[in-house]
Amino acid sequence: MTDETCLCVEREADVVMVRQRGRELAALAGISGSDLTVVATAISEIARNIIVYADRGEIVLKIVTNGHRRGVVVIATDQGPGIADIDMAMRDGFSTGASLGLGLPGARRLMDEFEIVSEAGKGVTVTMIKWSR
Ligand SMILES: Nc1ncnc2c1ncn2[C@@H]1O[C@H](COP(=O)(O)OP(=O)(O)OP(=O)(O)O)[C@@H](O)[C@H]1O
Ligand SMILES: [Mg+2]
Repeated sequence: MTDETCLCVEREADVVMVRQRGRELAALAGISGSDLTVVATAISEIARNIIVYADRGEIVLKIVTNGHRRGVVVIATDQGPGIADIDMAMRDGFSTGASLGLGLPGARRLMDEFEIVSEAGKGVTVTMIKWSR
């Protein structure tokens, strides 16, 4: 696998694939142990949101370096309906579906860096990073 991959996300099988690729790349970045599961879980949540709320999108995975530290960056984008109120969407328990509303706030807690950008009607971009310890 190269150190940067762009993966299409449009069906459930893609969630499994992107989760696995993210885990592999995180290992290459020096992430180990339960942090590999942490990265995979955060990727799953973001990928599943793409399928459920935006139908399709893509996820870029790459290794980043900051001084001597390496990490994995995950950039998820879609051109779906977007999120009108990000603060609301980031709250535990907020869901416009019949779901738990824990995906976005959970991913933010799991990763070291988390940024979400959206405007209603313009899709969503989530950028998150996990650093190796
Ligand atoms: N890619 C997206 N496009 C449009 N809306 C989104 C997207 N991702 C999340 N949302 C909105 O943000 C809300 C919160 O997302 P979150 O993942 O936290 O919860 P959920 O998907 O509703 O439930 P859970 O992830 O716990 O099953 C969603 O209900 C949806 O309204
Ligand atoms: Mg979700």
